[in-house]
Amino acid sequence: MKLLAIESSCDETAAAVVEDGRKVLSNVVASQVQEHIRFGGVVPEIASRMHAEAITGVVRQALEHADASLSKLDGIAVTYAPGLIGALLVGVNFAKGLSLSSGLPLIPVHHLRSHIAANYLTYKELEPPFLCLVVSGGHSHLVEVLDYTRFSVVGRTRDDAAGEALDKAARAMGLPYPGGLNLDRIAKGGDAHAYRFPHPRVDGSPFDFSFSGLKTAVVNLIHNASQKGETLPVKDLGASFLSAVVDCLCDNTEKAAMERGHQKIVLAGGVSANSVLRERMAHLCKRHSWQLFMPEIALCGDNAAMVGAQGYYELKAGNVAQMDLNACATMPIEA
Ligand code: KG4
Ligand code: ZN
Repeated sequence: MKLLAIESSCDETAAAVVEDGRKVLSNVVASQVQEHIRFGGVVPEIASRMHAEAITGVVRQALEHADASLSKLDGIAVTYAPGLIGALLVGVNFAKGLSLSSGLPLIPVHHLRSHIAANYLTYKELEPPFLCLVVSGGHSHLVEVLDYTRFSVVGRTRDDAAGEALDKAARAMGLPYPGGLNLDRIAKGGDAHAYRFPHPRVDGSPFDFSFSGLKTAVVNLIHNASQKGETLPVKDLGASFLSAVVDCLCDNTEKAAMERGHQKIVLAGGVSANSVLRERMAHLCKRHSWQLFMPEIALCGDNAAMVGAQGYYELKAGNVAQMDLNACATMPIEA
């Protein structure tokens, strides 16, 4: 079964053709990073307009690379939630138009579900159940993936997402957007013990995260130094901050896996590309003899191949949308 998949939830316009949820036949991503770099972050209005400009070409390319035409496909999967509403609407409406004209089923895909499904493309043998740490710019969740379309959130962030905290800290350190990626690069070779940061816990919710205190700590440190006319060594500061964030992510994953009896640990979302997180998680899983699954780097960030992977399982579960499908800025992964 071959699906055309479309993703436009944030600042990447993407389309892909995926076979049986596991094989990528094409994967085209048009990134808007260069446009948003001068604003230091994604400007939603600009993102929507750029999606509108790019989407036809991106979809056409995805079909060409896969040597496919709509008549040879079995469905159209599209990210409908969560994300920037104007950005999502571009993909949703484009997919609706294609579905209407071709008669192919329209398959609504949740963005975090698709991030998890990126792992099905990297590991053909991976099957639920497993415990997944989903860490992106907007979300930090510990999710029990009970089945391909059944999820149970066991931990979540109470404030900032991990990616958001990394982006804000990077910005305070003077690093360009996208902050998390640039922080990862600059922190390489830095002293992770140079600065001590708090490791916040959420009382009574051992699997929940809280990153805003950590982010404020680094921002205050930088402001205090600049008031005294000092500049802090960004390499060491970045390495120490990243280490503190990764400690929180690994600690809660370890606790949840032990308490819920999981031996398969999966990473997902843009932050799962982080080199320190990947390394530290590999150590943790080795120590417990747990299996670790991480998407290949190219599939960690937003792309449509992962939407095609999850779309396959949504279609198999009978999850097909009608022409009144709307985009939603927020939506629980369980819904
Ligand atoms: O999943 P994603 O591409 O978009 C959302 O769904 O939010 O995640 C984007 C987040 C951003 O916060 C970005 O800074 C972060 O992923 N990110 C990284 C790395 N690459 C992207 N964070 C740390 N290390 C990286 N290598
Ligand atoms: Zn994402």
